[in-house]
Amino acid sequence: MSLQGKKIILGITGGIAAYKMNYLVRDLVKSGAEVKIVLTKSAQDFVSPLTLSTLSKHSVYTDFFDDNKTWNNHVELALWADLMLMAPCTAHTLAKITVGICDNFLMAVYMSAKCPVIIAPAMDLDMYAHPAVTRNLKTAESFGHTIIPAEFGELASGLTGQGRLAEPATILSVLENQFSDAKQTFAGKKFLITAGPTYENIDPVRFVGNHSSGKMGFDLAKEAAKRGAKVVLISGPSSQKVEDENIKLCKVTSAQEMFDEVFKYYEDADVAIMSAAVADYTPKVKAKEKIKKKDNELTIELIKNKDILRTMGEKKAQQFLVGFALETQNEEENARDKLIKKNLDMIVLNSLRDEGAGFANATNKVKIFTPTEEQSFSLKSKEAVAKDLLDFIEQKL
Ligand SMILES: Cc1cc2nc3c(=O)[nH]c(=O)nc-3n(C[C@H](O)[C@H](O)[C@H](O)COP(=O)(O)O)c2cc1C
Repeated sequence: MSLQGKKIILGITGGIAAYKMNYLVRDLVKSGAEVKIVLTKSAQDFVSPLTLSTLSKHSVYTDFFDDNKTWNNHVELALWADLMLMAPCTAHTLAKITVGICDNFLMAVYMSAKCPVIIAPAMDLDMYAHPAVTRNLKTAESFGHTIIPAEFGELASGLTGQGRLAEPATILSVLENQFSDAKQTFAGKKFLITAGPTYENIDPVRFVGNHSSGKMGFDLAKEAAKRGAKVVLISGPSSQKVEDENIKLCKVTSAQEMFDEVFKYYEDADVAIMSAAVADYTPKVKAKEKIKKKDNELTIELIKNKDILRTMGEKKAQQFLVGFALETQNEEENARDKLIKKNLDMIVLNSLRDEGAGFANATNKVKIFTPTEEQSFSLKSKEAVAKDLLDFIEQKL
C-alpha cells in the first residue's frame, strides 16, 4: 500500500532506538510520504539531524527558532500534517503528553496538531512495566491516540523483555492501515472474539472435539481490526492464522481454558462476539495414561462444562454481547430462546440444513436476531459475512 502524498510529522525523542528512524524515514519517503522531522534536545544525542534531513529531504526541526533566529511556526507545521508519529517515544515525553507539558518544540507541535497521533514507546523493560508508564499509555489511548506497543526482545541494556521499539516495518504497516480505505468506525473500541472448537481430553492422546475451523471468528477479528478496533481473539485449536497489529491472539484448548481466558478480558470489552464452538460436555475423568484397548465397549462419562455465554450474559454491563447458534432443528425458535435466556444483545443463527453454511465451509448463510429485530442474509464468503455482521453491530453501538 502506498502513502503517496501523505504528510507525516515524525517526532523523535531521546531513546536508544532513535537510530531505527533512519530506516523508517527512508521507507516512508520510498512509499511516497512527505516527512518532516522534529527532534527533542536529547534525541540529538542519538541521531544526527544531517542524516535525517538528507533522508527526508527537509530540514529537521529542533527548536522554536532556526539558526537565523527565524521562528519555526509550530502551529503551521502541526496543521500541515495528516498524521503525527512519536517514535521512539520516551517515558519522559509520554508523561508530558498525558498532562500537556509544552516545554519544547515537539510538544508545541503535538499540542497544536489536529491530525491522528500514533505513539510508539520504547524503553527498558522495568521502565515499560512501571505503573506510571502503563497508566500514561492508557491515558494517551483515551485521547484517541493509537499506541504501537513495545515489543519483547533483547534490549540495549543487555536485558531481555518488553520494551523494544516496534520494528520499522510494523510501524509502517500501522501508518498504512491508518490511511487505508476502511472507515475507522471502531477506533477506540475493544472487541473480544472467540473462534474455533475446543478439545476435551479423554486421555493424553484422544479428545472430544468438533469440526469448527475457526474461520468465521478469525474473519470477524480481521474485519473489526481493519475498522480500528483493538481485538482480543481467543481461539481453540485452529489452522487459521492472523498477523495484525490490532489483534492479540490467545490460544486455548479446552472449554475451561476458554472460560478462564474470556473472563480476563470481558470486563474491559465494548463488544464480545462468541463464535467459538465450545464443547458443552467434558469427560468426567481424564485418564493420565493412554486408555488401552480391552473390552468390546468403553463408556466415557461426560459432565457439563461451565456455560461461557450464559455467564457473560449474567455479568453483562456495557458490553454488546453477541452469540452464535448452530442449529439442526427448530432453528429460529432455538436461536430466539438462547438470545433471551442468555441475556444477549444479538444472536447469529447458522443452520446446518443450509448447504454451504456452518462449520468447515468457507461460506456461511446467517440470520441475525436481536430482541426486537431480525435480518436474513444470503450465502456468502465468511469474509463477506463478517462485514455484514460488523455493519449491523456498528449501527447498534
Ligand atoms: C543511553 C541512554 C539511553 C536511553 N534510552 C531511553 C529509552 O530507550 N527510553 C526512554 O524512555 N528513555 C531513555 N533514556 C532517557 C531519556 O533520554 C531521558 O528521559 C530524556 O530526558 C528524554 O527526553 P525527551 O523525551 O525530551 O527526548 C535514555 C538515556 C540515555 C542516556
